[in-house]
Amino acid sequence: MEKLDLVYEGKAKKLFSCEDGDLLIAEFKDDLTAGNAAKKGFQEGKGALNCKISNQILKLLEEYGINTHLVKILDDTHQLIKKVNIIPIEVVVRNVATGSLTKRLGISDGKVLPFALVEFYYKNDDLNDPLLNDEHCIMLDLVKSESDLEELKRLAREINSILKRFFASKNLTLVDFKVEFGTDKDGNILLADEISPDSCRFWDSKTNEKLDKDVFRQDLGSVKVAYEEVLNRILKG
Ligand SMILES: Nc1ncnc2c1ncn2[C@@H]1O[C@H](COP(=O)(O)OP(=O)(O)OP(=O)(O)O)[C@@H](O)[C@H]1O
Ligand SMILES: [Mg+2]
Repeated sequence: MEKLDLVYEGKAKKLFSCEDGDLLIAEFKDDLTAGNAAKKGFQEGKGALNCKISNQILKLLEEYGINTHLVKILDDTHQLIKKVNIIPIEVVVRNVATGSLTKRLGISDGKVLPFALVEFYYKNDDLNDPLLNDEHCIMLDLVKSESDLEELKRLAREINSILKRFFASKNLTLVDFKVEFGTDKDGNILLADEISPDSCRFWDSKTNEKLDKDVFRQDLGSVKVAYEEVLNRILKG
């Protein structure tokens, strides 16, 4: 399948149309951004690492019955995906407190949460992706009904329990992650976008070393080394 027109360029990926109007080709870029693009960077090879990591994770989730947009891996940086209407809600699941949660609510960094906390954020860069409650989501027409929100929460928790266990077996703590969902032409909710060290926090289970985009956010070292470590652990049996 060949790339035709560029239909969207985001901070981390480009989307291209292809012969099949129901599908898109996603290209993973080497650009890095943090804090809604307040901080910008570039790491050669980052796109390929995220593409490979995301492919592995989406395939794993498919094996557990989660419907995803992934159709086919095309090469190191390109995926064939089902075109969806993205639900403009970033669904965040947290197992351990860090980042904005600690700042907003005064919870100490690294505290293991008593249950997986699901949060919704408005996918709106102009507004800086603000936190939403269920009523905000309905009021803003981000979903059709309350039951869609319940479905997003159910899927997010299910994805979390699959991934938490998987990463624990790789000596990685899944601290938190963000997922995006969309609806396909038949109205089915699919897991879309990517799951990678750009969208998850991974800490080494023994040392708590950060192996995710916090390496870039906080200038902790080489993004490439960290992301390669995540990919190697995923691929190791
Ligand atoms: N299957 C899909 N169909 C349609 N759009 C998708 C699909 N998967 C992901 N997207 C969208 O592709 C866009 C490009 O991804 P990228 O990660 O570069 O965006 P971003 O810069 O992080 O965020 P955004 O541009 O959405 O603010 C995102 O807006 C994402 O929601
Ligand atoms: Mg993105």
